[in-house]
Amino acid sequence: MKKRVLVTGGAGFIGSHIVDDLVKRGYEVAVLDNFSTGRLENLSESANKVEIFKADITDRERVFEIFESWKPSIVSHQAAQASVKISMERPDLDAMVNVVGGVNVLDAAVAVGVSYFIFASTGGAIYGEVPEGQAATEEWIPQPKSPYAAAKASFELYLKVYRAQFGLPFVVLRYANVYGPRQDPFGEAGVVAIFTERLIHGKAVTVFARRHRGDTGCVRDYVFVDDVVTVHNIMLSEKREGVFNVSTGTGKTTMEVLETIASSLNRRPQIHFDNPRAGDLEVSVLDNSALKTLFSSWTDFPTGIQKTVKWFLAHSR
Ligand SMILES: NC(=O)c1ccc[n+]([C@@H]2O[C@H](COP(=O)([O-])OP(=O)(O)OC[C@H]3O[C@@H](n4cnc5c(N)ncnc54)[C@H](O)[C@@H]3O)[C@@H](O)[C@H]2O)c1
Repeated sequence: MKKRVLVTGGAGFIGSHIVDDLVKRGYEVAVLDNFSTGRLENLSESANKVEIFKADITDRERVFEIFESWKPSIVSHQAAQASVKISMERPDLDAMVNVVGGVNVLDAAVAVGVSYFIFASTGGAIYGEVPEGQAATEEWIPQPKSPYAAAKASFELYLKVYRAQFGLPFVVLRYANVYGPRQDPFGEAGVVAIFTERLIHGKAVTVFARRHRGDTGCVRDYVFVDDVVTVHNIMLSEKREGVFNVSTGTGKTTMEVLETIASSLNRRPQIHFDNPRAGDLEVSVLDNSALKTLFSSWTDFPTGIQKTVKWFLAHSR
């Protein structure tokens, strides 16, 4: 019998790549998404092969209805209020989606006997500031600096409770900074998408400082979306349990990112330098030794950027 995977947030940037991959691998797939940031276009490769439920995970009754009618055996929980900025402005809304909504999904999963649960957590935010020259391992105690990170850390604890109480096996994937085709270039996060879109249209870009206006900007660990999808598939096929950073283990400054995109597009960017942004971490780099035992063929940054630029050139609005 085919495995039935329900992907919450399956119309979003990362979720839609996961959906395409699952369909190609022969899984039966359903998407549960409220299309707040997700788009039907993201599912154009798979739309006619997947069941799409337009629903909000905060609507407990509806979530139960969907689970009881479609009966997934596996859940990949990608849906989230994914903006740190919004979480700072409205921590209540963030907790409603990322904690209460998540618990609705968990309860519905238990109710229909789901056998494996994958959770998209955040490595980029959960550890707080990572001292320069170091890389956070999964053993570091979370030090959330935003309600978004606090909610993700909290949901990870719920997973432990549901493992203990109901025997629901799970894996937590703590993504670093994911980039690639389909990332929204109009949000306030996702610097690769924002820079690429702006450079294509000859617009100036802003580099927010790490400490002082005019420096090379924050340091982040950039991971290509295809690698996230591969890791997701490894976890699913091997039913791995535990917590894994999904990261490259190396940091890049915002200026390095900009230079790589500019050279891929052969453009000379016009740059505005601005002060550090409230809530932004200066440095976030994540150790990936645990994952390296399962996956090691990371896409190198220039190649990932080239693929991303190519996609944006073809799809830019
Ligand atoms: N992009 C990154 O760098 C990154 C880093 C760390 C963690 N994550 C996590 O990965 C997951 C996917 O992120 P993304 O970058 O693809 O973001 P995204 O905004 O593109 O995807 C989120 C999806 O969830 C849906 N959604 C939001 N609220 C919902 C609700 N109440 N009910 C149902 N659906 C809802 C959205 O419509 C969207 O399709 C999220 O859980 C996010 O927190 C992303």
